[in-house]
Formats: sequence, C-alpha cells, structure tokens
Amino acid sequence: MTFTQAAGLGVADELALAMPGSEWWRTAVIYQIYPRSFADANGDGVGDLPGVTEHLDDLQRLGVDAIWLSPFMTSPQKDAGYDVADYCDVDPLFGTLDDFDAMLSAAHARGIRVIVDLVPNHSSDQHVWFQEALAAGPGSAARARYLFRDGKGESGELPPNNWESVFGGPAWSRTTNPDGTPGQWYLHIFDASQPDFDWSNPVVWEEFRRILRFWLDRGVDGFRVDVAHGLIKADGLPDYTPPTDAASMGGEESDVPYWAQEGVHEVYRDWHKLVAEYDGDRALCAEAWLPTIEKTALWVRPDEMHQAFNFEYLQTKWDAAALRAVIDGSIRAYGAVGAPSTWVLSNHDVVRHASRLALTAENPQGYGIGPDSPGKPIADVGLRRARAATTLMLALPGSAYLYQGEELGLPEVIDLPDAARQDPTWFRTGGERYGRDGCRVPLPWTAEGAAHGFNDTGASWLPQPAEWAAFARDVQQADPRSTLNLYTRLLELRARFSLGAGELEWLEGYGPDVVAFRRGALDVVANLGDAAVELGAVGFLIQSEAFDGTAVPADTTVWFERA
Ligand code: BGC
Repeated sequence: MTFTQAAGLGVADELALAMPGSEWWRTAVIYQIYPRSFADANGDGVGDLPGVTEHLDDLQRLGVDAIWLSPFMTSPQKDAGYDVADYCDVDPLFGTLDDFDAMLSAAHARGIRVIVDLVPNHSSDQHVWFQEALAAGPGSAARARYLFRDGKGESGELPPNNWESVFGGPAWSRTTNPDGTPGQWYLHIFDASQPDFDWSNPVVWEEFRRILRFWLDRGVDGFRVDVAHGLIKADGLPDYTPPTDAASMGGEESDVPYWAQEGVHEVYRDWHKLVAEYDGDRALCAEAWLPTIEKTALWVRPDEMHQAFNFEYLQTKWDAAALRAVIDGSIRAYGAVGAPSTWVLSNHDVVRHASRLALTAENPQGYGIGPDSPGKPIADVGLRRARAATTLMLALPGSAYLYQGEELGLPEVIDLPDAARQDPTWFRTGGERYGRDGCRVPLPWTAEGAAHGFNDTGASWLPQPAEWAAFARDVQQADPRSTLNLYTRLLELRARFSLGAGELEWLEGYGPDVVAFRRGALDVVANLGDAAVELGAVGFLIQSEAFDGTAVPADTTVWFERA
C-alpha cells in the first residue's frame, strides 16, 4: 500500500508528489514527540504510544505535517531509550507493536507522517549481541561487532586511549572475564551501558539494513538518525583531548577521531538506496553536530540523507547579525547540494529556547541549567524572545522541527530536585553538569487534575513544577494571545502562503538589530533590539506579541502582506 493511499491525500497532493523536488520533507513542519513525556495512557508515570494516539487530534489541530518519535524500542532506559536492546520491538513501558501500528495508521489517517528514531552508533549493553560478545571472549566474531580492545599498561589496567564519554568520564569500560579476572575494554562514546558498534564490520551493516526494512515495511515515513556523525572511528583510535567546555555532542573545529570520519558517508549512501526502494518519499534526517553548516551539508548530498538538523541555527545567540548570517549561510550551503535547510530551536538534548534565549552565561550543549547555574534566564524575557524566534523561524524556507511543549512556551525546569534527575550526564559528571532532564518534564495538558492531564494517576517520571498549570494546553486553547494559539496561527499561515518553499529576499534599511526578509507576498520583520522599530501603515497578519500602532517593540516578530 502506498502512503498516499493510506493517508487519503487529494489530487493536488498527488500532483505535488509527482513533481521532482517537491517531496514532503522539503517543506514539512515536523513535531518531535519524546514519548516518555508526551502523554501517559496507562498511568504508570511514563508516557506511551497509546498516549500519542489519543492526542493526534491535538497535533492535527496544531497543524503539523509529521511527527518524529524519540526511541520507544525495547530498552533498559539507561539513556531514556537511546540504549536499545531490541531494535525491532516496542518496550513494554511504551506499549506493543500493535500499539505502534495503531498509532501509525491513526496518524496517516489524519495526513500526519511518522518518522522514528534509529540509534545505529551503539546498542544497549543488554542487546543480545553485546551479551554474546561478553560471553564469547577476545578475538571472537561476537566481539568484532563492537569495539573491544586490550588495555594499556603492564596488565592492561589502563584504557586503550584517552577518549572521554560525551556524558563525562572515560569512554572505555573494562570487562570481567568469566573467572573473575579483569578482561578487555570496550568503547562507549556515551554511557557505559551504550557500547559502540564497529561499523567496519559488514555484519553490522547487514543488521541495520534489516532494521531499516523492518520499520519501512511497517509503513514509517522515515528515520531520524541518532549520532549520525559518530559511526566510524579513525583508524588506530588515536588519543584526542577536546577543548575545555566543548559542546558534548561535538561541533568543535579540530579533527575529532570519533566524529565526522569520511567513512560514515558510505553508510548513508547505502541507506539512501535502500530507502529509495520504497514508495512515498521516505526520508532520512541526520543528527550530526558539526562545526560548520558547510560540513553539515555534506550529510545531505543528493545520494545521502535527505535532511540534517541545523544545529548551527539552534545554537545562534539572540543577535540579529548572527541570525542573518546563519540563515543566509544555511540557505546557501544546503542549496548548493540541492537539499532544503532545516530549522530547529529546541529538542530533548538542549535547554528549551524559552529559557536558552535569555541565558546570560555560556552554557555548552548538554550542560543544562539548575539551581546553581550562572546567568539564569528571566522567564518573561525568555518567553517573549522564544515567541519572536519561532515566528521568525516558521517564515523560513525549508523544513522546521518543533519539540513537544514549545508550542506551550514551556521553559526549562531549573529546580528539579537532585534526587529526581535521571540523565546519565548528571551521574557521570558527579553533578557538575545538570544534563538534559530540565527539557524533558512531562507535558501539562490540563491546568487541573492529576499530573496536569499527563495521565489520570498523578504519577510522573520527572516532577512537574507548580507553574505548569499556567502553561496547560486547555488554558492556552481558551486564550487568543497564548503561545499555543500563536503556533497554530503561524502554521496555518505558513501553509496558506506556502512558506516552506520558495526564495528568501533580504530587506535592508531597518537597522542593525532587525532581521527582515521578503517571502513572496509576505514581509517578515523581527526586532531583536531594545528600541521599537517603526514600519509605517501596515496591517499585520501576525504579531508574536500583541501591540498597538505600527512600531514593532523589542523582541517581537511580525508578518505582513505588502499593500
Ligand atoms: C540523542 C541523545 C542521546 C545520545 C546517545 C543523541 O544525540 O539525541 O538524547 O543521549 O544521542 O544516543
């Protein structure tokens, strides 16, 4: 069955699909669902797939084109599901494969496409392959699927090299032999429970082809590929010391022997061909943290992935010149390889943009913010900037990613009790980095009621703060000025004016603190400065903040049609 039949798309959609360069992912607004925090149908305190199905109508009302689900596969949940023990089954925490199929067809019936997360850099240490590797011993075929090495030092007591885990501490752990003596070491760029695969082994390639087909055959519309820059390691695994305060996931200028090695591109060329065998423009989106847009664009050359997250854009400060540069550079760099740019402001690994855009101290990705962090944001400033930033972002050509809860204007939760924290980063750095829990707190659906409507029981795997009531979806639905209504209207207008496609023309003359551009019949003006910017007599189609008159106040974005 083709997707178009499954989704019941109309004639216009069929025609659009037939036109080269008009694939859905080029312009789509894709909403990230972090399943454990979205909606909890069975009341155990962790969100689940039936919870997603129950709320698809809300997402349809919001106006998104697709959803991306963070991992829901079988996992001991040491890294919130990014430690997969069985790639082809659903963890009982989230439901069953039948629940997945039901969710997928309910989404398709509403014209919403579904992307799933694929984690190819590492598995869980509970994956049958890793357990076999431990049992089989050095030199075995089972160990050759991961990166086992003898240690250095007289009796192998030192790790094979000096690499550090993204989550802090060494990237190697030592095994224990069946007789209790210390054995070989294995590489884990992330937590010790996440051993890295050896992608120089064809068996690993074969296994991932099988996994891709498993989900494609079920009908998914694509994959978000986790740590897409990490699969291949430099020959000989040479020592490497990252700069102090480097962003955890990479992105530094120097050559890093475990990021962005040339060989990864062969993997995605292979997957490109495999995915192309399926109908319906299935897509691959790279999560690759790289130092420049030009480098990220290498992941979306015509025979590789279809999209890559634009983390350069996400990491740009609230500064007009910097934003103009990154937008211009993105359109140019991705355009040069025939790919759309993507745009993203928040996800489950970064401080939510309603807080991040008002931080006054450096905060590298992965560090998080907590009670003792320097430069904590002022909530009102953050929310206002976030609304302006999203209003700007959703006018840009290409595909935009939203992270669940940003449509409610949720801030980062800063004061989680230490005892509640679950991110491995918190544990592996001995509390030095707060990590990512603050952006993962379960969503508030209702102001009243248990767990603010996240479930019926009040259980919540991370505690929701008292102020969640004010952010609840039901309260916002009733308030025309709410962030939810702003997002809904933005998506409606973005679709009406086909803003995902077409050219962007810069508008000059508004001063250094303004980002202004033309998108067909629409002009977009974002004022990032402190002083109001006078526009003259225009009728605004949308304003990120309500104001009277024609002078756009600080931290506000407007869209208007030219007379
Ligand atoms: C995911 C993280 C995860 C890591 C290891 C990523 O970049 O987005 O949440 O911890 O990969 O799988």
